[in-house]
Amino acid sequence: MASSTISNLSSAFLPSQLSNWSRVQSKPSCTPTFKRPSFAAKIRASSTAFADTRPTDTVVVEKDVGSSKNILACPICYEPVTLIGANVLSVESARASSLQCSTCKKTYSGKETHLELTVASGAKEYDDAMPMATEFFRTPFISFLYERGWRQNFVWGGFPGPEKEFEMMKDYLNPVLGGNILDASCGSGLFSRLFAKSGLFSLVMALDYSENMLQQCYEFVKQERLSKRTISNWNLILVRADIARLPFVSGSLDAVHAGAAIHCWPSPSAAVAEVSRVLRPGGVFVGTTYILDGPFSFIPFLKPISQRLTQVSGSNFFLSERELEDVCRACGLVDFTCTRNRQFVMFSATKPS
Ligand SMILES: C[S@@+](CC[C@H](N)C(=O)[O-])C[C@H]1O[C@@H](n2cnc3c(N)ncnc32)[C@H](O)[C@@H]1O
Repeated sequence: MASSTISNLSSAFLPSQLSNWSRVQSKPSCTPTFKRPSFAAKIRASSTAFADTRPTDTVVVEKDVGSSKNILACPICYEPVTLIGANVLSVESARASSLQCSTCKKTYSGKETHLELTVASGAKEYDDAMPMATEFFRTPFISFLYERGWRQNFVWGGFPGPEKEFEMMKDYLNPVLGGNILDASCGSGLFSRLFAKSGLFSLVMALDYSENMLQQCYEFVKQERLSKRTISNWNLILVRADIARLPFVSGSLDAVHAGAAIHCWPSPSAAVAEVSRVLRPGGVFVGTTYILDGPFSFIPFLKPISQRLTQVSGSNFFLSERELEDVCRACGLVDFTCTRNRQFVMFSATKPS
């Protein structure tokens, strides 16, 4: 059985493409021209690229030769995991793969649609009961509805819609284009698919706690692959994990995106701290959420009311931009910046270099 330490993940970039990316990154003020990679992202054996994987082989990112960083990690001890059963990780190979922690030896089995990297993975009787905002999205009904009408309602709060949001966030992500990106709390994967199709990232990791959302993401990927035949080139993996326990090695990610998610997280500070831990120096966090200021700020005793609502609903709505900036700063991120449209905000913060 093939077994490989996952020391790096990425698309199979050729050296000529590598030099394109470094040119883009060294001149951030230029408008970069992006070449869409015409090959699938693959995790391959480092000792012999494109050769058969042997039990002691190390899996590397072939794009970023200069930095052979580890990416996937055990969510318990944050040490790198070893891939068992497949020598390439992809949406299709997840079910045939297992991951084993190189330190504590816990094994994480791949599911039909995703890699299962929650702390409780493998528990036979126990399942975490999360706050309502998290459990809500785990239901098959809401997961099914999400991209079939639910998400479109966000327009009432000022969300411009996925395509426009994607265009807007490219500005924030400009310094890290060509690197890997985590789509944290990806839902049905509307942005993960846009990231993957754009060819702007070497690897896209779509992560959510809801197994039903990941199932939807998997189905959409399959459909789009059949209709447009683009998926075979996609550099995408689907991961189930809790945002407060990210299964990535510290400092291994170039970018984290969290669309309409931070208000759904049980503890935004615990989650942003994790985002900060997994970002490399110079890595970018970009997210969208609601800010309940404007007319809402005239409601007396708004803060205690909002805190009580949070306890009951599990949703954390921000009352000001300053609150959002504060949580990013408290978790070690800098250069907070944001764009507003009514209650909608797109914000970005950076891991200091
Ligand atoms: C409103 S949806 C956002 C989906 C998508 N990113 C978008 O922009 O439309 C919020 C997502 O957060 C996920 N979520 C909630 N709690 C989570 C947690 N503890 N860990 C990871 N994801 C979580 C939900 O499962 C849901 O898919």
